[in-house]
Amino acid sequence: MSATVTPRLAGVIGWPIHQSLSPLMHSHWLKQYGIPGAYVPLPIAPEDFGRCVAVMPRMGFAGASVTVPHKEAAFALSATLDDDARVTGAVNTLVFAEGVVHGRNTDVTGFAASLTETLGKDVAKRGPVVVLGAGGAARGVLLALTRTGASEIRILNRTMGRAENLARIFAQSANIRVIEWGDWPAAFDGAKLLVNTTSLGMSGKARLDVSLETLPNDAAVADIVYNPLETALLKAARERGARTMDGLGMLMHQAVPAFAAWFGITPEVTPELRDILVKALTRA
Ligand code: ATR
Repeated sequence: MSATVTPRLAGVIGWPIHQSLSPLMHSHWLKQYGIPGAYVPLPIAPEDFGRCVAVMPRMGFAGASVTVPHKEAAFALSATLDDDARVTGAVNTLVFAEGVVHGRNTDVTGFAASLTETLGKDVAKRGPVVVLGAGGAARGVLLALTRTGASEIRILNRTMGRAENLARIFAQSANIRVIEWGDWPAAFDGAKLLVNTTSLGMSGKARLDVSLETLPNDAAVADIVYNPLETALLKAARERGARTMDGLGMLMHQAVPAFAAWFGITPEVTPELRDILVKALTRA
C-alpha cells in the first residue's frame, strides 16, 4: 500500500454481528480490486447506535452496512433518504459524505436483482405471487415485486393486521389480498411464485410449517433466509421439482451499490464470491 493513499474504511453495524457474512464479502472485493481499505464487523448495542454513527466519519469511515436490529434507527438518524428507504422505513446502508449521513435501502434492488438473476426477469409477472410475512423485510420484497411487474399479490401473516396494513400501503401498485395464515389452498390457487420473508426456518428460529401440496407444479419458490442455505421450505420445493432461489443472492446484490458508494468501484457478483460465502456458511 502506498504511504500517500489513505485507506478507506467501512463496516457492518449489528447486534449481534458475529454471524455476518458481509466482512467476508466486502474484503473479497477490496482484495479483488486492489483497493487499500478494510471492512470490519461492528457489534453495537441499540443504546450506542447513534453515538457510534456520529463518530464513525471522524474515524475515517466512508459508511456502513446496517443490520438487525438497527435498520429503523438508521432511518431515523439519516439526514437524507433515497426513495426505497422512504417507502420501506428502513435503512441498510449509510454513506458519510461532507459531514452528512445519507441513508439508503439497497435490500429492495438486491432482492429484485436476485430474482432476475435466479428466476428470470418476468417471474413476478407470470401470475399470482404469495408473500409469507408482513414485517420489515416483507415491505422491501413487496416493493421489489410490484416494481418487477407483480400485479396480484397475496399476503399471509400470523398477525393479520400487519398484512392488512401492507395491503393498504401497496394498494395503488397491485391487486393485494390478505389471506389467513395457514390457508394454503386459498393462497396457492394458481400461484406462480411463493416468497418467504419471515425469519421462520432460519437456524435458531422456529420452523416454517407450510404444506406445498396445493402449490402449482410450475410455481417457483424463494426464501430470503440464507442460513441454512437450503431451508426446509426450499428443500420441500426442490423435492417437488420447483425452481428455487435462496437468500444469498439478495445478500450479495444488496452489497453492490453500497461497496460502489464507499469505494468507488461497482463490484461483480460472481460464482466465486458465492462459493466463498457458501463455504463459510457450511463451516459455521
Ligand atoms: P423483519 O424486519 O426481519 O421482517 P419483523 O418485522 O420482526 O422482522 O417481522 C418478522 C416476520 O416473521 C413477521 O411477519 C412475523 O409475523 P408477525 O407479524 O405475526 O409477528 C413473522 N414471524 C416471526 N415468528 C413467527 C412465528 N413463530 N410464526 C409465524 N410468523 C412469525
